[in-house]
Amino acid sequence: MDIKTYATRRIRHAVRDADRPDNPFGVALESLREDALAAGHDRLCSFAHYDYLGLAKDRRISDAAIEAIESVGVGVGASRLVGGERQLHGELEAELAGFLGAEAALVLVSGYGANASLIGHFTGKRDLILIDELSHNSLFAGAEMSRSDVVVFRHNDLQHLEELLSARRGGVHSALIVTEGLFSMDGDAPDLVKLIEIKDRHNAWLLLDEAHSIGVMGATGRGLPEECGIDPARIEIRTGTLSKAFTSCGGFIAASREVIRSLRYTLPAMVYSVGMTPPATAAALTALRILEAEPWRVQQQRENSRHFLKRLSQDGFNVGTAQGYGVIPVILPSQTAAFETYHQLLSDGYYVPPIVQLGIPRDLPRLRFFLTAAHTPEQIDGVCASLQRAGRIRAQTAPAKVA
Ligand SMILES: Cc1ncc(COP(=O)(O)O)c(C=O)c1O
Repeated sequence: MDIKTYATRRIRHAVRDADRPDNPFGVALESLREDALAAGHDRLCSFAHYDYLGLAKDRRISDAAIEAIESVGVGVGASRLVGGERQLHGELEAELAGFLGAEAALVLVSGYGANASLIGHFTGKRDLILIDELSHNSLFAGAEMSRSDVVVFRHNDLQHLEELLSARRGGVHSALIVTEGLFSMDGDAPDLVKLIEIKDRHNAWLLLDEAHSIGVMGATGRGLPEECGIDPARIEIRTGTLSKAFTSCGGFIAASREVIRSLRYTLPAMVYSVGMTPPATAAALTALRILEAEPWRVQQQRENSRHFLKRLSQDGFNVGTAQGYGVIPVILPSQTAAFETYHQLLSDGYYVPPIVQLGIPRDLPRLRFFLTAAHTPEQIDGVCASLQRAGRIRAQTAPAKVA
């Protein structure tokens, strides 16, 4: 399908959902909270926010953001190369690189922009990009913008990747493998040990998007390499976001000193876009320091995820390929079931919007849960009970099958 047809279809689907009277998308959180309180709940308990370390309301982070606004300003007013550079940017980049075990890092205004700008910029006409079929839209956007051949390998199927590399590697200059540390819709991860072995054998580079794995995987939240006992220096490029575990807004690229230096002066998202805002930079830097000082948050988040996965499995829910790392979907038989379950959970005081059509295969509608270090066992058990209730109601109201 060409990109225009694809875009048109996506818009049609999006608008169709927006026309539903019970449209759950784009509703202001404040009004959902008010509704939950009015219905007698003591709070709206969200499983929809990727605040993995439970830092979204941390006073140390908001204080740092306020102080940055007061001392440096709300925005930086220019591209970093021509007046938009602030000391905070350099501090965050140095500490982030140290945390990730990379030689250097670059921070940008969004994780989406980092991926979309980087891939096409990095690869050329004679190169090959091999991308996991369930990669985030920003990774596909970057691949689409490149002039390279783009081939898609089956999700986490390294045998398929190997076959594609064996068939295509000889005919191209460079090969770039693109995948994620923790997949954002399915909560599963590639076998990094095997992936590194394959990419080294085929002399390819690896771009690992760690948007959902930083702060979540590895004993101290350093991501998939730490989880798998892999030296992070063996991965050529890691990208990610400051909007999830770091509870701020912005994106990053971590790589060798040489690569980052060249990106600093050439990457379109760096050269032609404004620098990160001071409050967002200070907030991310403070969150990073908290993550390093309080690794118990990573452990707590992990415990909560495992507990939730165990409960769902015991209760017979379809969790697909989720491994128990922060993102756990409950896959439902139809879009209608996803909407009904969403409404049941909401009426019980839990917020978990349905994911239908956009970003996932059409036949696998789901509710996607993000588990955080701040969830309590009671909240996790409570949402499981609500899911069960929704299942029972659906079973009672389902039309009887004609023999
Ligand atoms: C895997 C992945 N990469 C990149 C992004 C984009 O990050 P940002 O929100 O900083 O634009 C996301 C956001 O959801 C993501 O899930």
